[in-house]
Amino acid sequence: AGASLAIRARVLSYHAHPMREGEGAHRYIEDGLVVVRDGVIESVGEAPALLAGLDPALEVADHRPLLLMAGFIDPHLHMPQTQVIGSYGTQLMEWLARYTFPEESRYGDPAVSDEAARFLLAELLRNGTTTASAFCTSHPQSAESLFAEGERLGMRLVAGKVMMDRNAPPALLDTPERGFDESNRLIERWHGRGRLAFAISPRFAPTSSEAQLEAAGQLAADHPDLHIQTHLSENHGEIAFVRELFPWAEDYTAVYERYGLVRPGALFGHCIHLSERERGSLAERGASAICCPTSNLFLGSGLFDRDAALAAGLRTGLATDIGGGTSYSLLATAAEAYKVLALRDQKLTGHAALYMITAGNAEALGWGDRIGQVAPGFEADLVLLDPGATPAMRRRMERANSLEEELFALVTMGDDRAVAATFVAGRLAHRR
Ligand code: GUN
Ligand code: FE
Repeated sequence: AGASLAIRARVLSYHAHPMREGEGAHRYIEDGLVVVRDGVIESVGEAPALLAGLDPALEVADHRPLLLMAGFIDPHLHMPQTQVIGSYGTQLMEWLARYTFPEESRYGDPAVSDEAARFLLAELLRNGTTTASAFCTSHPQSAESLFAEGERLGMRLVAGKVMMDRNAPPALLDTPERGFDESNRLIERWHGRGRLAFAISPRFAPTSSEAQLEAAGQLAADHPDLHIQTHLSENHGEIAFVRELFPWAEDYTAVYERYGLVRPGALFGHCIHLSERERGSLAERGASAICCPTSNLFLGSGLFDRDAALAAGLRTGLATDIGGGTSYSLLATAAEAYKVLALRDQKLTGHAALYMITAGNAEALGWGDRIGQVAPGFEADLVLLDPGATPAMRRRMERANSLEEELFALVTMGDDRAVAATFVAGRLAHRR
């Protein structure tokens, strides 16, 4: 038997629920015990009952009254944008040209990308995030750096070398052939190694020629199990540009459909200004929409329509989109999602928010059977949360009269300060 671990805490876990799509269901154990063996959760239950049958040599860490949850999952962020966050005064297309593309141009240098990969994953763990789906740059080196650091930390990670061959500075452009070959080499080297997965990552339709989208489609056809990640319908200027570049397409989603890029495991960032046809098509083909509220507010992109996604049966994830997004914290991100939806007179309960950033995002990644839950057989990626982490939070929690109230206030006020500890595959990876 390998390393073992037993944590006593208030255990809170979410799982998909057929009658409450997008919201899930929860299991809460006030005095819970979670036993981990070899990086996997072995048992979960009431502490008094479980303790009776436990090997007395196994040390139990008592963290009550902290909450133990599945590690958070961030299904859309950009590894090379940690130094772009908070770039002033522009919307998407100008933001890319003025700030983001010049920054990403530096990432062919292994010193730059190694350092950024180390920073990014350490910062994610500090925020309770144990799995992410990350865009790198068009340089294969950037993906090498992120995969190597992910492997060192033992994290479950999706990453992709970005494919882009037009409408960006020459230093960032590949070609249809190069993007294809470089992706294939990274797949051979990293995909399925430990907990790592490669994502086919055409940046978005405006920066890929039709030949490159065809090459991305070929990769997708050659590797039916791979994730695909890109951007869709984020900004009105972007959508108008797509209409110009692909006059034959009836809408933005139709461009990706044409090249076989809309399928299960395909993650479409933003999805703000979709038509009903587009939502229906994404849903029918099993793809996921990834809502990125801090980015959408910061770049003035618009307000995600969660009720429309739910009505269409379109699976929705919730992500930071660092560095268009402004916070690494999925708690802070969920709080901004609540505010975006408030502007649409829509609701996001505390339970629904916590479902989204754990089991919901796991479902979006197609990994709902291995991460995102505190349940036997699941990988032991865990986060210990302190709802009273700050004076303001402690004061608020004094007046919380139910679990629901406490959790909603935790989502509203929480960030990295509420993350007391993070475990990756049963190993302590961060402690505040
Ligand atoms: N669309 C294409 N690239 C990007 C990016 O880096 N960030 C955001 N927010 N949208 C994009
Ligand atoms: Fe993005």
